Amino acid sequence: MQRFIIKGQKPLSGEIKVNGAKNAALKFLSAALLSADKWTLSNIPQIEDIFTLAKLIQSLGVNLSYDKDAFSVHAIQDPKTDLNPDLAIKLRASVLLTGPLIARCGHVFLPYPGGCAIGQRPIDIFLKGFSSLGVKIKAKNNGYVLTTSSLRGNKFFFPQVSVTATETLMMAACLARGKTLLWNAACEPEIPFLADFLNQCGAKIKGAGTPFIEIEGVSRINGGDIAMMSDRIEMGTFAVLAVACGNNTIKIINCQPEHAQSLWLKLKEAGAKIKLGPDWVEVQHANNIRAVDLKTQEYPGFATDLQAPFCVLMTRARGVSLIHETIFESRLFYTDILNHMGARIIMADPHRAIVVGPTQLCGQKIISPDIRAGIALLIAGLMAKGETIIENIYQIDRGYEKIEERLRGLGADIKRVS
Ligand code: EPZ
Repeated sequence: MQRFIIKGQKPLSGEIKVNGAKNAALKFLSAALLSADKWTLSNIPQIEDIFTLAKLIQSLGVNLSYDKDAFSVHAIQDPKTDLNPDLAIKLRASVLLTGPLIARCGHVFLPYPGGCAIGQRPIDIFLKGFSSLGVKIKAKNNGYVLTTSSLRGNKFFFPQVSVTATETLMMAACLARGKTLLWNAACEPEIPFLADFLNQCGAKIKGAGTPFIEIEGVSRINGGDIAMMSDRIEMGTFAVLAVACGNNTIKIINCQPEHAQSLWLKLKEAGAKIKLGPDWVEVQHANNIRAVDLKTQEYPGFATDLQAPFCVLMTRARGVSLIHETIFESRLFYTDILNHMGARIIMADPHRAIVVGPTQLCGQKIISPDIRAGIALLIAGLMAKGETIIENIYQIDRGYEKIEERLRGLGADIKRVS
């Protein structure tokens, strides 16, 4: 088991580069199974969730190889269709494979998917969506067997906006007979990015990036090459970290600032000094950070994946902030750990936390609960007086590549020990 040891309050400054987007790369690796031709994907982050999904895809008999950030996926023959439960349980994104597999092979065994412990995370919307496309569903062995003789296009209204359900049904509908209309679809930027590439490979998708997506089924998806877009959550995390810990200018490069408008608004409201370029963000040191309220929403609202880092920043802000997590019901429990470090946070209910600031965090021995709470606690460790030890850093490695090396480049005192 590895851990991070952080000596807090070091002055941070300099430049940090954003990697390819995890939540795009997972979708592209899955979508490659729609095609019998080769997909070559670059700028893929080297993180645990990607390696787990790669192993799961290889276990289906698909040719998948990689060299650093460049992946090649070639599902030349029809893949196997039973997902390995030991791998599927490790990440929620395993559910994405159901779209391409059902469309291409007419059968999937989906063990109940795992992932971050941030809420109940049901899969009812996927099942309802598949059912509307003509898929038969049977519960079996702690999972579901999905079968169809052929997918047929239909109109499906998402009862709740869901990112991966939108992507999964959009992928499946590419090879369905006729037209599929997906209404109340999620609008996250990774969705039009995937749709544009699928269109280059022969799909016919209109409206991705809006709540109304129209897909005309085609008989095949071709091969192609693409570099992943940059990770908006990593960009946002670094920006919050820069406001929380920077003692001079920190420049975040290789990013797409237009993908985090609601974050810039909140950070500026809190008194942060931020300059946005076409592919960079510059954060200058600001002494007085004010408390602001925050409510997470679907894109383009404030991303739930940035809620925990922002909450950590609010511990050093003057005043009282209300952090309202609307998407997941167990995504505020890390606030207990922050209290253990000296914060004053009151949980009003599972969805709302009240942060009273400013407080001085102090180093403690803590455990990373999930990817985003994990990185937030790492930021807390960088802000804290003294030494912080973070256990279970697998949960940080799932989403952030070699984070300690990259933060050392800004002057952080953080090391990984076994
Ligand atoms: C995606 O998860 C992201 N994961 C998450 O990133 C992100 O937090 C989340 O979207 C919200 O932005 C990937 O893209 C791989 P949802 P997803 O389905 O698609 C409910 C990270 O750290 N729901 O949009 O699984 C669900 O419980 C993460 O990178 C159902 O009720 O989230 C939640 O309340 C973790 N039934 C809401 O919808 C369903 O069948 C939105 O979740 C599906 C979802």
